This record gives sequence, C-alpha cells and structure tokens, in this order.
Amino acid sequence: MIRKATLDDWQRITEIRNAVRENRLSSANVSRVADVARWIYDNGSFWVWEEDGAVQGFAVADVRDGTIFGLFVHPDYEGRGIARALLPLACEDLRVAGHSVARLTTDPGTRADRFYRRNGWTDTGRREKGEIVFERPLL
Ligand SMILES: CC(C)(COP(=O)(O)OP(=O)(O)OC[C@H]1O[C@@H](n2cnc3c(N)ncnc32)[C@H](O)[C@@H]1OP(=O)(O)O)[C@@H](O)C(=O)NCCC(=O)NCCS
Repeated sequence: MIRKATLDDWQRITEIRNAVRENRLSSANVSRVADVARWIYDNGSFWVWEEDGAVQGFAVADVRDGTIFGLFVHPDYEGRGIARALLPLACEDLRVAGHSVARLTTDPGTRADRFYRRNGWTDTGRREKGEIVFERPLL
C-alpha cells in the first residue's frame, strides 16, 4: 500500500534510512538532512510503501529547490518495484509545485545509479565529492 506518512512513521523512516548499505548518511550531513526532513514533514509529503505491517520504503521531494530529497527502500524489500512505484509520486509533487525538471544526486556505481539510468534520468555531471547529478524532465 502507498500512502502519505504520518508523524507515527518517523521512527521507521529513520530506521530505513540507517539500514541502507549505499548512499548512507554521512555524519557531516546529519543536521542539514534533519532540518530538511522536518520541513518536508511539516509542509510536504513523505510517500511511504507499507507491507507486512510496516513501512518498507519512502520517497520524498523538496519542492523548494526541485530535488528528490530521498528515495530509500529497506534492504530486505529491494528489487520488487517499490522504488519504481514511489518515485513518480515525489516527482509529481515537484511538477505540481511548478518545477519542469527534477534533480537528485547519488553515489556512482550504486544500485541507485543503475536504477535512475534505467528509469529515464540523465547524468548531468558531478558534485564536488563525486556524486552524480541526475535530472529528469517533468512533463
Ligand atoms: C536504489 C533503491 C531506492 C532501489 O529500490 P528498489 O525498490 O529495490 O527498486 P525497484 O525494485 O523499484 O527497481 C529495481 C529493479 O527491480 C526489478 N524488479 C523486481 N521485481 C519487480 C517488480 N515486481 N516490479 C517492478 N520491478 C521489479 C526491476 O528490474 C527494477 O529494475 P528497473 O530499474 O529496470 O525498473 C534501493 O536499492 C535503495 O534504497 N538503495 C539504498 C539507498 C539509495 O541508494 N537510495 C537512493 C539515494 S539517491
């Protein structure tokens, strides 16, 4: 089931964020990520996938800058189409907010890198720490 997260989901969302093996949160980013997540919780939507009685994945956009802020699936639930189902909802939030292009960054050589390339995202360059910047038009 896909639904919008409520405040009760916050602990599980944090667990999933910490359970992933790639694109892990660096300690330098913890407080910035917490601030952005809090803003989106209060002003936007965390889209979550619920299965077996718990949230197993989430997708979230930051409508302020046109980015996909997060797309994370619990490692035990990877490879079943959960990210492919959730990501369009976060992209739609960006489109409705007036953006014509969605952007995100991810580490090279990861599952996410391969996933975005197969799903219509274009590699547009690198950030200073080597993360790939992907873009996708929002039609
Ligand atoms: C990258 C990540 C979000 C992908 O999530 P996922 O749910 O495993 O991805 P999906 O299952 O939707 O897609 C992966 C593949 O599974 C396959 N798949 C298996 N069963 C499927 C099903 N029932 N329906 C659809 N696809 C299925 C597809 O081949 C799909 O390939 P595609 O890219 O050609 O669509 C996930 O691996 C993850 O959270 N990684 C760690 C964190 C991370 O890197 N996040 C991104 C940070 S920017």
